Amino acid sequence: MLSKKLEKALNDQVRIEAASSQVYLSMASWAEGKGLEGIANFMYAQSDEERMHMLKLIKFINERGGNAHISELKAPKNDFGTFQKMFNELLEHEIFVSDSINELVHVTLEEKDYATHNFLQWYVAEQIEEEALARNILDKINLIGNDKGGLYLFDRDIQQITANSAAITPKE
Ligand code: FEO
Repeated sequence: MLSKKLEKALNDQVRIEAASSQVYLSMASWAEGKGLEGIANFMYAQSDEERMHMLKLIKFINERGGNAHISELKAPKNDFGTFQKMFNELLEHEIFVSDSINELVHVTLEEKDYATHNFLQWYVAEQIEEEALARNILDKINLIGNDKGGLYLFDRDIQQITANSAAITPKE
């Protein structure tokens, strides 16, 4: 049985994962509008992953005798300026999510809930992958800068990154 404190902390994480999914969906749509299909598909896939992270938490809370709550979300912005800025935001957002997972793990130790602690290790591993991927992409985008030809090639190459990241994502 989850403690009230941990139930609340897990529900806060449900909201963070849901908000992440919305932010990445907005990034996908923005990229699609700019005609960069590879980047758009990458962000659509990221959005789907965040929804999966959210669902996994919802099911866990309910299975452990808690009540998962679906909250209202703030609308994400729908203009990201440049691709460099957008991928910078992606990395910053993932660092924020990693911090929130770390806090959550901390609460499990305070509450001596080792089952939830164990469950959250999947998220800890996932965040290492997500941050590494975001850093890798940002490094490439920073090299390209504002070069249109470079961006065109990157848009093609990111399809491969999308396929590889799906292959290395920890399985349920
Ligand atoms: Fe669910 Fe990208 O963190």
